Amino acid sequence: MPITYDSVHFVYAAGSPFESAALNGISLVIEPGSFVALVGRTGSGKSTMAQLLNALLVPTSGEVVVDEFVNSADKKKRSRKLKGLRKKVGLVFQFPEYQLFLDTVEKDVAYGPKNFGASREEALEKAHQAILEVGLDASFFERSPFALSGGEKRKVAIAGILAMEPDVLVLDEPTAGLDPEASREALALFRKINAKGTTIILVSHDMDLVLEAATRLIVLENGKVVKDGDPSSLFEVDLTSYALEEPKVFRFVDLLKKNGLELSPSNIRDVESLAKAIKEAKQ
Ligand SMILES: Nc1ncnc2c1ncn2[C@@H]1O[C@H](COP(=O)(O)OP(=O)(O)OP(=O)(O)O)[C@@H](O)[C@H]1O
Ligand SMILES: [Mg+2]
Repeated sequence: MPITYDSVHFVYAAGSPFESAALNGISLVIEPGSFVALVGRTGSGKSTMAQLLNALLVPTSGEVVVDEFVNSADKKKRSRKLKGLRKKVGLVFQFPEYQLFLDTVEKDVAYGPKNFGASREEALEKAHQAILEVGLDASFFERSPFALSGGEKRKVAIAGILAMEPDVLVLDEPTAGLDPEASREALALFRKINAKGTTIILVSHDMDLVLEAATRLIVLENGKVVKDGDPSSLFEVDLTSYALEEPKVFRFVDLLKKNGLELSPSNIRDVESLAKAIKEAKQ
């Protein structure tokens, strides 16, 4: 079943002097299995949208529906049992490494599955599988999560969510602060997970990554959707007006055009597809 945001408004600290309207009427449907990128300037409402998905936040008005779970401003409609929702929607926070808390990596990653009813052995097995899946080897199982590098901690935090086998994986800035190789590895992992059928919602400022991976792009500005479509439609958008960086391959397409080689950007998402388009244009 799809995810639906229906006329969602969200106000932080409503009624106080610190009141801040973060979302101003979001209505959209996200199809199962899609890879959606959520972009927009700092403060545009991305993390707020993400946290409504597993009911860490409750809409001020409107509702967010994920399968049978309703997160609504209306108390009568709102689902009371949220455990199933938390298993279904795995949310990796901005800087998730701050949430590691157990003394070994395997215990930390096994915490989620155990909490959702797996036996100790099952939980450990799922944990080991998830740790290997994010690209850490077995020598990490018994290490302390606090004695890892920032990038390794990030991987452990992602493994902790994957171990719960969510249907929807929400990633809030998962590659911020990672080196280019670690970012590429992370991207390959998200694509692999998506290929198995998991819906991915990726919040990112990295437009190269977004263009390469997402099948749909949503641009937020002041808590509203201002663009929604195929990521290659970004080429027509004045990205700077939303404080977004132009993907590198688009800049390249622009420069080629200025030098007399016209390419259609619609199939260009990364260096490989750019090279292919150039080759075809020259034939
Ligand atoms: N806990 C909070 N209390 C009050 N206002 C908040 C709180 N969290 C966020 N806001 C405000 O809500 C708006 C949207 O914030 P949100 O964190 O969703 O933005 P974002 O798009 O994720 O930004 P960033 O790219 O910086 O992570 C901002 O104006 C922000 O200042
Ligand atoms: Mg944010």
